[in-house]
Amino acid sequence: MRVLSVFGTRPEAIKMAPVVKTLAAEEDIDSITCVTGQHRTMLDQVLSLFDITPDYDLSVMSPNQTLNGLAGKVISGLDAIFEQVQPDYVLVHGDTTTAMAASLAAFHRNIKIGHVEAGLRTYDLAKPWPEEFNRRVIDVAAAKLFAPTATSADNLEAERLSGEILVTGNTVIDALVETAGRIRSDLKIRTRLDAEFSFLDGPRRILLVTGHRRESFGDGFLNICKALAELARRSDLQIVYPVHLNPNVSGPVHELLSGQHNIHLIEPQEYLSFIYLMNKADIVLTDSGGVQEEAPSLGKPVLVMRDVTERPEAVAAGGVRLVGTDVVRIKGEVERLLDDTGYYSGFTHILNPYGDGMASKRIAAALAGKAVVPFAA
Ligand code: UD1
Ligand code: UDP
Repeated sequence: MRVLSVFGTRPEAIKMAPVVKTLAAEEDIDSITCVTGQHRTMLDQVLSLFDITPDYDLSVMSPNQTLNGLAGKVISGLDAIFEQVQPDYVLVHGDTTTAMAASLAAFHRNIKIGHVEAGLRTYDLAKPWPEEFNRRVIDVAAAKLFAPTATSADNLEAERLSGEILVTGNTVIDALVETAGRIRSDLKIRTRLDAEFSFLDGPRRILLVTGHRRESFGDGFLNICKALAELARRSDLQIVYPVHLNPNVSGPVHELLSGQHNIHLIEPQEYLSFIYLMNKADIVLTDSGGVQEEAPSLGKPVLVMRDVTERPEAVAAGGVRLVGTDVVRIKGEVERLLDDTGYYSGFTHILNPYGDGMASKRIAAALAGKAVVPFAA
């Protein structure tokens, strides 16, 4: 069984790293890895941390390219690799243009597709755009649908797709467990991180921010920046914001928030440093998919700057709240968490609905044709 794993962005790399490692150790599988390089710096940070050397690298990133330009390069680049590798399965993750284009390329060559993190839905093609389209297209074509939770499996069942569904847990929890363990057990790493982030020491509470959604470009990001500037006036708060490299994000964020008192704009962090920061944070304000899954697992309250989410489990459990991109709402919700300890603790005592750290093992075993006990939250 030859499995070609294809990924290209930071979150795909974080969530596929444990899968790639597990496939490599599975004796019934010949595992080959291709990165598209949809991201460059942010992808390479992850490859280096998890010590993954891809067999192929399409190096498709160019500054601020269009989605069609990107998709075209991925499809034609992969076609040549499929010819050479002749994989039995192409394994993709999530909902990026890399994953969608790789699935289309595999479908056109009648190669079976395995979809990791299948079945996430908002049922609104505009939110998130273009990801809701991407993940639905992949699921239509996939032979194996690795759903992270029972809710995502229910979505797939209701769509009467032809692929086989397995509830695996989310592989991000595998990556998180390993990385948090490394920070806990390695004094040298901890000492380095303590020194790197010593500027955050002191009694002020920490708000950790990330954001990159395309549907928030323009007014959404202007509002987010306004809310942060107002929150930064509080003397009991410090804001740490690793800024995404998309110029549609980094442009306005640096223009509006650079030099502001209490706001630390920093480069995208390697995963180890970001998990360390999340552990230190009091509140996480984000529009990220992966962060919505990780932060509740670390017991951190999460405010999500979106109107809908395809990850309803932690919202239902009480650890995540949707706040949109309205200035008053964002500011009000952060302040309520800062000022109302009872409200705050309601967010922190939830059970992790997203995984048990065994998702990659389930995926590798299923691809090798072995029996698997599904994940149950
Ligand atoms: C992409 C994914 C999104 C995912 C996000 C994770 C699509 C359509 N979007 O969005 O689903 O949630 O990644 O972060 O697949 N750039 C760099 N260096 C990097 C990365 C990006 O300079 O390491 C800049 C480049 O100018 C690039 C631009 O950001 O052209 C946009 O990158 P792209 O991958 O198209 O979109 P993201 O906004 O990163
Ligand atoms: N992340 C990281 N460094 C950062 C910010 C985020 O390693 O500076 C990690 C985060 O822990 C999560 C993933 O990147 O696992 C989320 O990526 P992103 O928000 O870019 O994409 P999304 O999850 O929304 O697709």
